[in-house]
Amino acid sequence: MSGHEFQSYFPESGGVDLTDQGTNITDGTIEEMRQLAGRYPESRSALLPMLHLVQSVDGRVSPRGIEACADVLGISAAQVSGVATFYTMYKRRPAGKHHVGVCTTALCAVMGGDALLDHVSDKLGIAEGETTADGTFSLERLECNAACDFAPVMMVNWEFMDNMDPDKANQLLDDLAAGNPVQSSRGATITSWKEAERVIAGFPDGRADEGPAAGDASLVGLRIANERGWTAPDAPAASQEEEK
Ligand code: FES
Repeated sequence: MSGHEFQSYFPESGGVDLTDQGTNITDGTIEEMRQLAGRYPESRSALLPMLHLVQSVDGRVSPRGIEACADVLGISAAQVSGVATFYTMYKRRPAGKHHVGVCTTALCAVMGGDALLDHVSDKLGIAEGETTADGTFSLERLECNAACDFAPVMMVNWEFMDNMDPDKANQLLDDLAAGNPVQSSRGATITSWKEAERVIAGFPDGRADEGPAAGDASLVGLRIANERGWTAPDAPAASQEEEK
């Protein structure tokens, strides 16, 4: 194999960027990785949250982060890499302070998602998968966010921005760039991608209940049912289920 290097046909689907060895992982990070590993009967089940913790510290899945996960879990770096490069939530290049996603799956597309993605891309001066030179924004095309009743939907640091259009996107991006407070449509005030990644890793910031939890469009059915006195049918008893 020596002298041969695997070349991906899809350059962006390749591995973690080994040319960037920078890291902010400390002994404290390793200790937090051990905490995460201790939360599961099988420690390697903690790999996904551990990789989010790596992103919260290094802004991407760094080579050192992969090595640290492998050491803590007693698995190989190749096994960690295999997981880190499978899921789109794990970034192989530094994401921006604010990671912006635009949904272009069917319903959002019908409601203007592709035009919105083009608009955001033009405004930020970056293509999907890229980060602005000043590190403030990165951009991603998202698959359905299960928020189709609020299409077209954007996300900032995984928080929902509902019923978007180009003007609202301009305001959102201008406010984020200026450091103005930005409230997600159904969630907390926006902090940063790294802080959001730490929460996803399993270290809550105490703001889980901040902001509205559900939007009107999701509650229409419930409101109509309440007005008309509709209730859900009782679930069949377990014994009847078993007989079927
Ligand atoms: S298609 Fe965009 S949230 Fe479902």
